[in-house]
Amino acid sequence: MFGCSVNTPKIHNDIDNKVESLLSQMTLEEKVGQMTQIDASVVCVGEEQKADNPIDQSKLEEAILHYHVGSILNTPYTPHNKAQSIETWRKVINSVQTVAEKSRLKIPVLYGIDAIHGANYTKNAVLFPQAINMAATFNPELSFKEGEITAREIRASGLQWNFSPVMDIGRQPLWPRLWETYGEDVHVATVLGAAYIKGHQGDDFSAPGKAPTCLKHYVGYSFPVNGKDRTPAWIGERMLREYFLPAFETGVRAGSPTVMINSAEVDGIPGHANYHYLTTILRGELDFKGFTVSDWEDIKRLYTRDKLAATPKEAVKIAVMAGVDMSMVPFDFSFYELLIDLVKSGEVPLSRIDEAVARILTVKYQAGLFEPKPPVLNEESTQQRAEAIATNREAARESIVLAKNANHILPLKKSASILVTGPAANLLSVMNGGWTITWQGDSENLYPKDKLTVFQALQKKSTGKVTYVSGSSFTAEMDIQKAVEEAKNHNIILLCLGEQPYTETLGNIDSLNLEPAQINLANAMIATGKPVILLMLGGRPRIISSIAEKSAAVILGFLPGMEGGEAIVDILYGDYNPNGKMPISYPRHTNGITLYDYKPIESFELNTYNPLYPFGHGLSYTSFQTSGLKVKKEKISRGENINVTVNVKNTGSLKGKETVLLYLNDVAASVTRPNKQLKAFKKVELDAGQDESLSFTLTPHDLSFIGIDLKRIVEPGDFKVMIGSETVNFSLTKQ
Ligand code: BGC
Repeated sequence: MFGCSVNTPKIHNDIDNKVESLLSQMTLEEKVGQMTQIDASVVCVGEEQKADNPIDQSKLEEAILHYHVGSILNTPYTPHNKAQSIETWRKVINSVQTVAEKSRLKIPVLYGIDAIHGANYTKNAVLFPQAINMAATFNPELSFKEGEITAREIRASGLQWNFSPVMDIGRQPLWPRLWETYGEDVHVATVLGAAYIKGHQGDDFSAPGKAPTCLKHYVGYSFPVNGKDRTPAWIGERMLREYFLPAFETGVRAGSPTVMINSAEVDGIPGHANYHYLTTILRGELDFKGFTVSDWEDIKRLYTRDKLAATPKEAVKIAVMAGVDMSMVPFDFSFYELLIDLVKSGEVPLSRIDEAVARILTVKYQAGLFEPKPPVLNEESTQQRAEAIATNREAARESIVLAKNANHILPLKKSASILVTGPAANLLSVMNGGWTITWQGDSENLYPKDKLTVFQALQKKSTGKVTYVSGSSFTAEMDIQKAVEEAKNHNIILLCLGEQPYTETLGNIDSLNLEPAQINLANAMIATGKPVILLMLGGRPRIISSIAEKSAAVILGFLPGMEGGEAIVDILYGDYNPNGKMPISYPRHTNGITLYDYKPIESFELNTYNPLYPFGHGLSYTSFQTSGLKVKKEKISRGENINVTVNVKNTGSLKGKETVLLYLNDVAASVTRPNKQLKAFKKVELDAGQDESLSFTLTPHDLSFIGIDLKRIVEPGDFKVMIGSETVNFSLTKQ
């Protein structure tokens, strides 16, 4: 089930032959056109023209018949990208493929889209929790289903290629794309990312309802020193190989046929100029056979921004020779013109063009784009849609972390009288984040009318009095005094704070501190003496330590998606027993950004790992206990697996789900090792009083690390396995 056609030898041979034959008939112009990707706005009428089918036929014909473009991306009407109806999408895709059919060699155009939490540019699509929340579920099955449903919904629109999943590791909490990652842990990201790819692509991504994925943003994008998007990372090669490469390696092995490149720079080299990463490692070591696509305008930026190239032409040469196969130009045909010149002058060899084009054509064949038209467009059945919404609701519920619950104040009675206040209480956008209907996700007026905000979901379920007073916006005080007055008439305050949606550079901030307006509202609510339940929504951890300390309960919702409002209320009322766990370390202080897998030196002398909530933390309305941790053998030799068993018991009085986390520590090694690293996890559902014996297998790879010579090695010696409060040791002998 988890294979993919890229690895199927027979199909591979057939496709290789077809690609070779097609390539032999292509002119230089047709080849370079295949490497060119343009934005939809280049071939569409302006938004003010409000066309039923936004395509501008003559511009489209010029792009495909004259410039031979191989790929188009995005929704029409940049910069105000908006979700389109399925009907509009089908018209757009149909127009594009009809023109491609008229081209000399009838090479189909590959249409790409960012569908990062469901088909977010198709109206009424099922929009899942964002990746940070999917990580909090610790549930690869849900990630697999998200992939399946997303692929089905983009294909129903005629779209063919998804710029997802993000395989960057979220180890810099300030970074405005933290929430697009699966959090700070490498193992979680590899497991959830691979499951998503398998759901999205199946065994064969040309099958109806399946589509190719794109691993992004290769590599090191997520770790900017100053936390701002598209600023330098300084990642040594050991760190790169230990923390940032493995998720991409797993994605390649899971069969993802495309890779998008890091839009920033690492160690002084822009992602798009990095031959070592793009060719030596990606091709030579990871054995990636698909094609690479640049990120937005990033080849030009080697000249305009990075000053790495002296001219736009040199920028094209550097990028193509480093290993970029397709350029997301995206607004003109300059890449096409410049690359043709470079080949004609001999500065870029034709062999490099043939290599890139062969890779692109291979993916087009693998995606079934050359099959006879019209393409199979599957309508989602009513039942499939209902199931997809139910899966989404489950994903949202499993992704919400109950971080504090003093004196078991939660769950609330439905009759409780609640004052709901704060900027995050009555918005859908705050639960969805960027890449929702629009790029920034902040056009609340475009959100579906049938989905519920937290306040609306409370109103629906409550049998008591529920009142909403905004209190403050995200950045400015509004009617705090009114909220204080209203609090007198209620028993509980639900304080909903957080961040408005954003992505990329527009989400840059200078501090993790929460805005003063929200802090003032919080302090005013705490001063009323009524119990405060703090709900945080948004894409990254903002500092809430003093508020959390004085709140009776804390729920961290991050970006739970379209079902988030109902899921949060399910948890507030105990209709669902929470089980989400922290996918990141939630900092206590703005600069307290030590991560859970810290090195010994980070907890030496006065240094400590002291987050507000550690990685893996998450409460339930029941309680669980792990015990009896055992390794099958205390001494193993090289190449052997290690079997670990543990018992997990629901020691409370309610049914619930628990994720059991297995950590490993290499006691002494030639390169400093983390105090612990997650190597495996299992999520189980247990009735009150029920227990289950779990077994895990650790492989030699789990014991390995990047050694002094930058190669992955395993060193003999002692290891510790940790689950819950127990630790067991084993040692690896020299032979
Ligand atoms: C983002 C990518 C995205 C691309 C296409 C870029 O600005 O960095 O994540 O896939 O745009 O929309």
